[in-house]
Amino acid sequence: MIKTQFCRLLGIDYPIVQAGMAWLANAELAAAVSGAGGLGVVSPNAGMSLRGDAVKNLRAQIRRVRSLTDKPFGVSLFLTNTEVERLIEVVIEEGVRVVLTGGASPAASMKRFEEHDIRVVHLVGSVRHARGAEACGVDALIAEGLEGGGIRGYEEISTLVLAPQLRAAVEIPVVAAGGIVDARGLVAALALGADGVCMGTRFVATRECVAHQRYKEAIVRAIDTSTVLVRSNHSVFRMLKTEALRQWLKGAESGESLPWEEFASPKRLRAAYLEGDLAEGVAYAGASAGLIGEVMGAGELVGRIAQEADALIARLR
Ligand SMILES: Cc1cc2nc3c(=O)[nH]c(=O)nc-3n(C[C@H](O)[C@H](O)[C@H](O)COP(=O)(O)O)c2cc1C
Repeated sequence: MIKTQFCRLLGIDYPIVQAGMAWLANAELAAAVSGAGGLGVVSPNAGMSLRGDAVKNLRAQIRRVRSLTDKPFGVSLFLTNTEVERLIEVVIEEGVRVVLTGGASPAASMKRFEEHDIRVVHLVGSVRHARGAEACGVDALIAEGLEGGGIRGYEEISTLVLAPQLRAAVEIPVVAAGGIVDARGLVAALALGADGVCMGTRFVATRECVAHQRYKEAIVRAIDTSTVLVRSNHSVFRMLKTEALRQWLKGAESGESLPWEEFASPKRLRAAYLEGDLAEGVAYAGASAGLIGEVMGAGELVGRIAQEADALIARLR
């Protein structure tokens, strides 16, 4: 498999990143991805109870990954999180080498990351944000295309057009995220000028992910129209059409639904993700869900994508 600049930057074998995913990016998943040569990532509240302590949980997740693999891995930090300062302290104390940052400008935290030789991979949804992040000194960018699951850039730019524009706008490596599940996606991303791919939805439907089996099965059953974009005042989200979301969308047309922020609460997200309650719960998922046909091992998935990408590139020559 081609070793890109991004692989060399982080010391990984394959340019495949497992996305940070609140509640879901657990140590076993991250270790399987990193162990297979990609970049596994843990999220502070992975697998946690609703009233759990994310700071403690993050420390435990980091130590658990280390007990399972000695390969590089990352920690996902949403910079608007009220606990972000304490989470950064844990990252530093535990000697983590890579963070995936998003949600706000990384400027205020860059000095501390630099002092501790931590590589910063920042999530952006537009050229303007990419230029701003590069000027702050981040090491690489993730292009958050509209197809992807979860919070998207409010400019609503698809991966296909965002990745090459970021490539042209900045010098640092750019990783494409959104709509990618397999070797075809990886080769397409490389062809667009990206240095690798970041996948979220595909990694939810793996054996190691802490997600409930019913949510994994809903992803496997999903078709092209199973996800929808929801626009709130400040953000755009791509969600799985669960029963609760369908009802909310119906009510929203006539102004009868709860405000989005109140409706899409941590409790409802956790209920779908970790308890498999797809009636009352809500869940992020990418349009890529329609391309996912089975739950499989995360390490096996990374290996398969790398191997098939090689074969595909050879065929295209
Ligand atoms: C279930 C789920 C939860 C996510 N949670 C987060 C998160 O907590 N922080 C974050 O930066 N991105 C999050 N994302 C977005 C991913 O970082 C990534 O952009 C996206 O998954 C890529 O598109 P894909 O789902 O088509 O692979 C989430 C995505 C999914 C599917």
